[in-house]
Amino acid sequence: MESNRRWHDPEVEIFSNLITPGTCCSAEAYDLANRRWYRLDVDAEVQDEDWLSSTVAKHVREFYSANEKVPPWNTIKTTARGSPVTFETKPDGYVDRPITKSLSYGLEPTDKLPTTAFDQLENLTYISRSADRCTWHGKDCVFKRIEFDVDIKPIMTEIRIRESLINAIGSAGPADANAEMLRRFLVVPVLAVVIGKSKPWKPGTVAGILMPFAGQDLEILARDADLPLPITEHQLWDLVRGVRELGKCGVEHGDIKYWNTVLQPAEGEDASAKLVLIDLGSVAPGYDGDAKALGALLLWCLEHVPALRENQATMAKVDAAAAALAEEDFDTALESLSPADA
Ligand SMILES: Nc1ncnc2c1ncn2[C@@H]1O[C@H](COP(=O)(O)OP(=O)(O)OP(=O)(O)O)[C@@H](O)[C@H]1O
Ligand SMILES: [Mg+2]
Repeated sequence: MESNRRWHDPEVEIFSNLITPGTCCSAEAYDLANRRWYRLDVDAEVQDEDWLSSTVAKHVREFYSANEKVPPWNTIKTTARGSPVTFETKPDGYVDRPITKSLSYGLEPTDKLPTTAFDQLENLTYISRSADRCTWHGKDCVFKRIEFDVDIKPIMTEIRIRESLINAIGSAGPADANAEMLRRFLVVPVLAVVIGKSKPWKPGTVAGILMPFAGQDLEILARDADLPLPITEHQLWDLVRGVRELGKCGVEHGDIKYWNTVLQPAEGEDASAKLVLIDLGSVAPGYDGDAKALGALLLWCLEHVPALRENQATMAKVDAAAAALAEEDFDTALESLSPADA
């Protein structure tokens, strides 16, 4: 396991399962939570991916509970009954599915963002397939990583969008472009492009991007039924304003959804909590544009935020703003909502 990583209960996905009909199968499994590959060989034809992934997770978990470290082995051999079981350590190249492509950053004059080495990140802890929470120079951050070849393009797009927003803010703008990116566009900035020194990345190439941890996403917050979502009309107004600003700079978010929106708690004395956007630039299939997606997000908020429904007038205003956004009319949407909570 990466030396700067904290253990997390395994989240195993099966990436391929080579079946020899009637005889055996060999599955490639990846523990996303601890970022490690395993191979599972079974002396029977097993199609059930849930069984394969839970078998790998069970053995990795059991080893960790007994030894407080990830197993030295990377290959599990067993039967369809699950016993007996033996463990083997094969060369990494035999088990890992390598990242074959790479991305360079920091050498061109147009590369505007700072870089940092992967080993400067501490306490990496799994959030999701592509994201880890971590500490960087004492700051609470998120590392969004190139985990597979398919992640290279979206990471590059995220970098280029931040660069174009920094250009839009301009050298005459506020000195702290990252704070301005949050204020003006409601977009979480990239603090640094992370450069990998060793596998799985080609040394000296991009491993991912580092952002401030901006709060929980709305999907996670909505799951906690005991805590009503504390979203206000003012926050919705501000988000609509931010997305309109993005569009004015020629930037499309491409996937405005509740799971790509985080609620950033108030920081400092005059600041208040904000809704801010993450995961920019990769346009989702069938996406209908930012305005319509934002309208749908407003309706999602009406459904999930009791405080927005309690007051008939507020509910009507959010509804009207969503209807205007469905027509891609940002101005009417902004006029419908109040810039400050009553
Ligand atoms: N800056 C951030 N602050 C707080 N949480 C974040 C931040 N960036 C990412 N996350 C969390 O990590 C999750 C995944 O990040 P993101 O949406 O950028 O990637 P994704 O391409 O959707 O990847 P995945 O397939 O892992 O969902 C988000 O849904 C959110 O919970
Ligand atoms: Mg996302």
